[in-house]
Amino acid sequence: MNSITQDCTTIPLSITDLHLMKQRGEKISCLTAYDASFSALINNAGIDVILVGDSLGMVIQGHTSTLPVTTNDMVYHARCVSQANQRAFVIADLPFMSYSTPVIAAKNAAKLIQQGGVQMIKLEGARLETVRFLVEQGIPVCGHLGLLPQLINQLGCYQVQGKTPEDAERILAEAMQLQDAGATLLVLECVPATLAKDISKQLRIPVIGIGAGVHCDGQVLVLYDMLNISISKRPRFSKNFMHNASSIEDAIIAYHQAVKQTLFPSIEHSF
Ligand code: KIV
Repeated sequence: MNSITQDCTTIPLSITDLHLMKQRGEKISCLTAYDASFSALINNAGIDVILVGDSLGMVIQGHTSTLPVTTNDMVYHARCVSQANQRAFVIADLPFMSYSTPVIAAKNAAKLIQQGGVQMIKLEGARLETVRFLVEQGIPVCGHLGLLPQLINQLGCYQVQGKTPEDAERILAEAMQLQDAGATLLVLECVPATLAKDISKQLRIPVIGIGAGVHCDGQVLVLYDMLNISISKRPRFSKNFMHNASSIEDAIIAYHQAVKQTLFPSIEHSF
């Protein structure tokens, strides 16, 4: 089969495709995955982006935070996901302390790309020097602002960020700085919908929201939350897509369609 006759579910999406989706106003759908079976289901449902999130520390490993997750854990799960995926753009998290200097970050990002088979890495916070260094090495970077789960021991609890004008201004400034440093995608977690709308409008790069309202360029959820199989309480911003679905495939397709049609998230899932 050559590239012209290939089925569109097998042509891999690139970061350019995601940028074009933003430009034409098409919402980007994203789910987390950690293994081959769910990766294949998500790919077949037409989801645009799979995030191998360090949330696997909670939903797969049973920890109370993402902090115990190692780079080797991430590489293992990234490889499981990549092998079963054909079309979705795959991103993996750099876990806690795996990007404490630019050189350490590049070494661990290279493992995720070469051994894990992912197309992009994601890191938390405005780590501008590290982002610049990774991009110089040819490593595509997704930023992550708002609620930063790897800072849980500094934050004390998982709560909405950017509620004061000062915090909102700082997050907007950091988003612009990450874009200028070369990040080509941004995840915004748990921020007021108005702030996420502002940031999505001002940035050229696509903004994928989780608990960040409907005006982001795309949406991501933790798979186990939207399938209602997480061992911890489902966060307010997530939705049980198994509720009216007859199978896991149906639930994933319903999520994909709800994102594309801007039916998810609604006000009740936003801050
Ligand atoms: O680890 C993860 O699943 C994430 C999402 C919550 C965005 O980073």
